[in-house]
Amino acid sequence: MIIGQGGREHALAWKLLQSAAVTEVCCVPGNGGTARLSGCQNLAVALDDPAEVARVAQRQGVDLVIIGPEAPLAAGLGDELRAAGLAVLGPGKAGAQIEASKSWAKDLMHQAGVPTAAAQSFTDLEAARAYLKTRALPIVIKADGLAAGKGVTVAETAEVALEAVEAALAGQLGPAGRQVLIEDYLDGEEVSVLALTDGQTVYPLLPAQDHKRIGIGDTGPNTGGMGAYAPVPWVTPVLMDRIQQQILLPTVRALRERGIDYRGILYAGLMIRPAGDPWVVEFNCRFGDPETQVVLPLLSSPLETLLLACAQGCLGDVPPPEWVLGGAACVVVAAAGYPGPYTQGDAIDGLDQAAETGALVFHAGTVWDSSHHRTAGGRVLAVTGRGASLGDALQQAYAGVSAIDFPGAYFRPDIGWRLTHEE
Ligand code: AMP
Ligand code: GLY
Repeated sequence: MIIGQGGREHALAWKLLQSAAVTEVCCVPGNGGTARLSGCQNLAVALDDPAEVARVAQRQGVDLVIIGPEAPLAAGLGDELRAAGLAVLGPGKAGAQIEASKSWAKDLMHQAGVPTAAAQSFTDLEAARAYLKTRALPIVIKADGLAAGKGVTVAETAEVALEAVEAALAGQLGPAGRQVLIEDYLDGEEVSVLALTDGQTVYPLLPAQDHKRIGIGDTGPNTGGMGAYAPVPWVTPVLMDRIQQQILLPTVRALRERGIDYRGILYAGLMIRPAGDPWVVEFNCRFGDPETQVVLPLLSSPLETLLLACAQGCLGDVPPPEWVLGGAACVVVAAAGYPGPYTQGDAIDGLDQAAETGALVFHAGTVWDSSHHRTAGGRVLAVTGRGASLGDALQQAYAGVSAIDFPGAYFRPDIGWRLTHEE
């Protein structure tokens, strides 16, 4: 059973069903893509009713529940399902704080000795204003709680910084912003490293690079993620080893020291500083989206074996993940207006033609209305190309995207631009 309805969940369902050992997947609630995926069915169960989710999982006889999004993890769905005797991939409420409270995560990083930017937390505007005066620009303002990737402002000026603090404290980001973190700006190159962990053993997956901004050249507002590629060529094995030794392992150890049995994905959003050192920008308690759509297609080990071992606390008994050569690139096709208010309900054409290019068309915000796929979210589709090189993968992804048509479809034409514009 996969909880969630995005491109990440479609990619998980697709990958699991590639394995002969996986005969059935159900998605709660799933989307138009998982509705039409052979071997997969969508189930409508209210996620705010954990007891009902547990009953349905038991009735279906599921061997594993994978919780995709952060909101149900932060609400403690993992604890409730485990208490009902189910094997669950995803931390409980305590562990999910690593994403759900940025100030909690900062404390944990300090405890673990993990490199991260200096920051302070505020609920009082005057105190925040005074602190801002003491810091250099640019400066980063973050809502403490979950804000669907939209709670961060990188402010170039003191005015913008103060406006962001005021807006958050005034409740414009909802409860997530009642506390704000003012964090020093880190320069460098961003990379996402997702790791599987059972609370002891940690297996990093291939590094990926997300494209968070809506506009060409990484400009404009932040989104959930407009595209990604993996692996990231400049993330060498030596750097991966430092990330493992200096960030992932100490963080999992610090969680353990707090009595947290963390079984799931630890997603490290990293800034590789100009001198080559990895620093943590944020942690997430789940698979990334769209990182998952580029990492899983490159995995050659059986995914279900790895995920079950995480859930059962015996990850060290299975071999680390193995990968196919080459690369994968994903281009997100979004609805007009995203990340602001966007249109929904439009028929999507060209999906079969897109699949004929060899690209994997993962549905993100769609529904199947028994005759058509229709748009039903901000990020509508995530189109992944694969190839012997990242260039080939990008070419296949864009060939897939160009076959797709719905009114106002928007995508970034420059996914992977940092590959060619930087050394
Ligand atoms: P987050 O939601 O914490 O990942 O932040 C969203 C984006 O804001 C990150 O992917 C970065 O591009 C940027 N960001 C966040 N914190 C910092 C920081 N301390 N320095 C520079 N950029 C940051
Ligand atoms: N792609 C960013 C995230 O999943 O948070």
